[in-house]
Order: sequence, then structure tokens, then C-alpha cells
Amino acid sequence: QEGDAEAGATVFKKCAACHVVDKDQNRVGPSLQHIIGRTAGTHANFRYSPAMVKAGEEGLVWDDATLHEYLRDPKAMIKGTKMVFPGLKEEEDVNNVIAYLKQHSE
Ligand code: HEM
Repeated sequence: QEGDAEAGATVFKKCAACHVVDKDQNRVGPSLQHIIGRTAGTHANFRYSPAMVKAGEEGLVWDDATLHEYLRDPKAMIKGTKMVFPGLKEEEDVNNVIAYLKQHSE
């Protein structure tokens, strides 16, 4: 189901404590600019958890489906991830924030 990028911008405020999306700048979390199609754990100069690096080595690429799973419950998908975020409970919020991330991946 396609999300609404404009609504996703509001959801992204929950992410913005740790991530930027409009430039290539790491903060507490890695930059999420061009996240669609990125292999997990591979942004330059960011110190990921071993779990995230391993997930990427095993072939995890961020797309609709994988972002969906991670954003619903990060620690359930990647045991040992250091992203301290409980996940988004509302299906609609997940779809909307992914639409927003897509807009910043073009
Ligand atoms: C990693 C998205 C909230 C801190 C990631 C990754 C994504 C993501 C896609 C993987 C990036 C990659 O492989 O390069 C989001 C979204 C959020 C959110 C969409 C809001 C809905 C947060 C918050 C924090 C945070 C609030 C800080 C409290 C991190 C950290 C990592 C990470 C530290 C690296 C994880 C690791 O190495 O295991 N995030 N994030 N994120 N995020 Fe978030």
C-alpha cells in the first residue's frame, strides 16, 4: 500500500532525533538519504552494530518490505541492532514514512 510522503514528513520527526534524510550526514544514526537500495550497514564512516553489518553481509538491502519489517520492530528483525527505537505501531505511519524516505532516495 502506497504511503503519503507528506504525512511521512510528520512521522519522520520521531526519527529526526537521530537521522537526517536531506543530506549525507551521520548523526546518532546514519544518514537516510538514498536509503532505498542501500545494503544494510554500509554507509561510509558510520559505526554500525556488528549485527547490522552482518545483516548486510548476508544480503539485506533496504526496500519497501525490509524497511517495513525493521521499522515495525527493529530488534525483532535485527537482534543486536543499536537503534534504540521501539518501532512504529501504526501500519499507516510505517507506509507514510517509507514514502517520505523514497522521496529522498530519488
Ligand atoms: C539505523 C531508519 C529512528 C538510531 C537505521 C537504519 C534505518 C533506520 C533504515 C539502517 C540504516 C543503514 O543500514 O544504513 C529509522 C527510521 C526511524 C528511526 C525511519 C524513525 C521511524 C531512530 C531513532 C534513533 C535511531 C529515534 C536514535 C534514538 C539509529 C542507529 C542506527 C540506525 C544508531 C544504526 C543501527 C545499527 O548499527 O544496528 N535507522 N530510524 N533511529 N538508527 Fe534509525
